[in-house]
Amino acid sequence: MLLEDLRILQQRAENTLDDSDSPEELENWKIKYLGRKGELTHILRGIGSLPKEERSSAGKVSNQVKVALEKIYEEKKRYFDEKQYHDKMMERIDITLPGHPIYQGKLHPSTRILRQIYSIFAPMGFQIFDGPEVETDLYNFELLNMPPHHPARDMWDTFYINKKTLLRTHTSPGQIHAMKYFCPDPIRVILPGKCYRYEAITARSEIMFHQIEGLAVGKSLTMADLKGILVEFAHQMFGDGRKTRFRCSYFPFTEPSVEMDIDCMICKGKGCQICKRTGWLEILGAGIVHPQVLKNGGYDPRVYCGLAFGMGPERIAMLKYGIDDIRHFFSNDLRFLEQFC
Ligand code: DAH
Repeated sequence: MLLEDLRILQQRAENTLDDSDSPEELENWKIKYLGRKGELTHILRGIGSLPKEERSSAGKVSNQVKVALEKIYEEKKRYFDEKQYHDKMMERIDITLPGHPIYQGKLHPSTRILRQIYSIFAPMGFQIFDGPEVETDLYNFELLNMPPHHPARDMWDTFYINKKTLLRTHTSPGQIHAMKYFCPDPIRVILPGKCYRYEAITARSEIMFHQIEGLAVGKSLTMADLKGILVEFAHQMFGDGRKTRFRCSYFPFTEPSVEMDIDCMICKGKGCQICKRTGWLEILGAGIVHPQVLKNGGYDPRVYCGLAFGMGPERIAMLKYGIDDIRHFFSNDLRFLEQFC
C-alpha cells in the first residue's frame, strides 16, 4: 500500500516538474514534494508505523524515490540557471542612448572673485601668503599700532575667544606674519581669507566675510608704486575706462592712509542711490606701512619702506555684478549661486 503510494507520488511529481516554467515554480515544486512538510516527507513518517518486515523495503524504495526526485530537481535547476545566464548575455546595451546628465557644481562667487584678484596680482609678482583665522590680540591690534584702549579699535567689532585670543577682524595681522617670515628679504604678498566681526547682520554687513590684503616691502617703494598697482588692479577688475580717485583716510597701521574709489558704474558718476549721490564707490583701504609696524615685523624703517592695501571680495563682487545684499553670499540659495558660472 505504501509502496503503491510512493510510485504514484513519484509519477505525479515527475509530470508536474515538466510543467514548471520558471525558477519560482520549480522552488514551489520542491517545497511541495521534497520540503519538510512536503508529500514525500509525509509518507516517510508513516514508515515507522508499518509492520517490522515491511519497514526495510519501504525505507529502501522511499529513499530511491527521494534520490530520483532530487536528481530531476537539480537537472531542471541547472537548466534554469544556464538559461538565465544566457539571457543576460544576450541583453543588448544601446550605447547610442543619451546618458544621465551629471550635475556639475560651480565656484562660489567669493572664490571666483578671489581667484580673479590672484590672477591680477600674480603677474605683478605677488604670491599668496596664509595667516591664521584665530588670532591673538597682539597680532590683530597691538603690533598693528593699536595698543589696548586705542580708540581705533572701535572700528573693528570683535569676537573674543578669551582676553588675548580672538577671531581676526581683518587680514592685516597677516602683514606681521609675512614680515616675520620673510625678514630681511623684500616682500610682495597677498593675504586672502575669512574675517569675523561682531555686528548685526544686514544687507551691508555680515559677521563672516572675506578680505584680501596686499603687502610689499622693499628699499625704494613709494606712494606712486601703491597708486600704480591699485589703478592697474581697478582697470583689470572693473574695466579699462574706470576712473579712480584716492581720498585721504586714517588707519593706525599706515601713514599716510588712503581710500580708493572708482566712479559709480550704475550712474556713470552722475550720482545715484548706490553711490549715495557722490558718483563714487569705495573699493579699498591702503597706505604706506607705518614705521612702527615695519619695526614690529623686524624691518628697519630707516632702510625699508612698505605699502599695503586691503579689500573685501564680497564688496567687489557686489559692485561688479550689482548684488544688493551681502547676505546672499552665505545663505546657500542655489538660485543666487547658480547665476555665477
Ligand atoms: N584692515 C583694514 C580694514 O579692515 C583695511 C586696510 C586698510 C588694509 C588699509 C590695509 C591698509 O592694508 O593699508 O578695514
